[in-house]
Amino acid sequence: MKTKDIAILTSFVAILLIQIVGCAGSTLPPGDAARGKALFADTSLGTNGKSCNTCHTDLGRGEKSLVGKKAFEHTIRDCIQAALQGDPGQEQAVSDLKAYIESLK
Ligand code: HEC
Repeated sequence: MKTKDIAILTSFVAILLIQIVGCAGSTLPPGDAARGKALFADTSLGTNGKSCNTCHTDLGRGEKSLVGKKAFEHTIRDCIQAALQGDPGQEQAVSDLKAYIESLK
């Protein structure tokens, strides 16, 4: 095999690996449910003075209950962005909130 062929082959493998990792989706850091619980009521996550607890009352157990719901990463980001007018790219916060919601029973 020529060096050029090896180079081309290597780039294909690299692209394939990037796609596989991308599809696997989550690159979130490990989440902590206790931190997530605190964040759930934290108005500094967004910019409009609301917290998750404003709508998902009683820390996710009351109105718009999240008990037993699948805490999709993209849903949490959507709520941070649209409902709290916050930055949806807060990786550690998203992961902690996910861990907290998944701990609700
Ligand atoms: C302004 C109100 C509002 C705020 C604030 C809000 N949400 Fe939501 N959220 C909704 C609505 C409306 C839905 C979709 C309908 C429903 O579940 O009642 C929803 C859906 C969700 C779902 C999916 C539930 C399901 O049915 O599968 C999750 C998870 C969630 N929110 C998490 C959060 C988190 C975490 C925060 C804080 C970062 C947050 N939400 C802040 C209104 C809000």
